[in-house]
Amino acid sequence: MIIVIANQKGGVGKTTTAVTIATGMAELGYPTVLVDADSQGNAAQFLGLDPRPDLYRLIIQERPAAEVVQRVEDYPLLGVVAGNADTLEIEDALSRGRRLHTATALRQALARFGSKTAIIVDTAPSLSNIQVSALNAADWLIVPAIPEYAAETGVAALVQTVAVLQEAGGGINLLGVLPTMVDSRSKEHAETIAKWQARFPGLVLPAVRRLIAFGKAPGAGEPIWDYAPNAAEDYADVMAAILPRLSRQLQRQAVRP
Ligand SMILES: Nc1ncnc2c1ncn2[C@@H]1O[C@H](COP(=O)(O)OP(=O)(O)OP(=O)(O)O)[C@@H](O)[C@H]1O
Ligand SMILES: [Mg+2]
Repeated sequence: MIIVIANQKGGVGKTTTAVTIATGMAELGYPTVLVDADSQGNAAQFLGLDPRPDLYRLIIQERPAAEVVQRVEDYPLLGVVAGNADTLEIEDALSRGRRLHTATALRQALARFGSKTAIIVDTAPSLSNIQVSALNAADWLIVPAIPEYAAETGVAALVQTVAVLQEAGGGINLLGVLPTMVDSRSKEHAETIAKWQARFPGLVLPAVRRLIAFGKAPGAGEPIWDYAPNAAEDYADVMAAILPRLSRQLQRQAVRP
């Protein structure tokens, strides 16, 4: 089961959301793989991991899944496939389109983890071939967005992309628009969230506040659950909202046997 975290806009909390949901799902007992499809390589960085092995090894070198996964201390059910500058070569291979095809490349590569694994894909702030390949692979899409007036077109465009992919026979569904970095005193934020709720009924996830702890946790190489449990409560609400829609597609295990 593949959840893609995407928004072409930069710095909206995609990686924070991907890392937090992946660690949260693993902690709840779901075997999970966090995949970084962004050449910035932030997902592994945020967890204090190495930039290699990486997605390039999985997709281009066709290494077995177990060889490209890094383990995370304290999260026995979580594996991470890092991204780095080599990810740009996947982009090249997709644009040449001889051996790898955008519509299928990521879905085929990620299938090696098994259909009952929760796969969380972090993506780059761009509409690249890898991004499109990830959307083609996705069962679910989460769109993190700062609720500013200017964010509306980007969010609407992604939701529209979901409709286009569905019409083409894709299995993607919108899991939710996630308001991030929310300031409870901002009229602009409140109005934008209200607008989204009217436009995407039932699909606006609980808001994540703008809190200093989120900016500091990556430097400590820790998920927010460990770095600042109080701040993590916002994401606990997000998980509670999405899990009922996902759990049928997953198999839960004992976290620590
Ligand atoms: N709720 C939040 N409150 C405060 N800071 C946050 C919050 N969420 C994320 N941040 C910080 O904001 C910065 C951008 O977040 P993040 O890297 O998750 O965004 P992104 O969308 O992945 O960025 P990019 O588009 O570059 O990949 C990071 O320094 C992160 O630690
Ligand atoms: Mg990012």
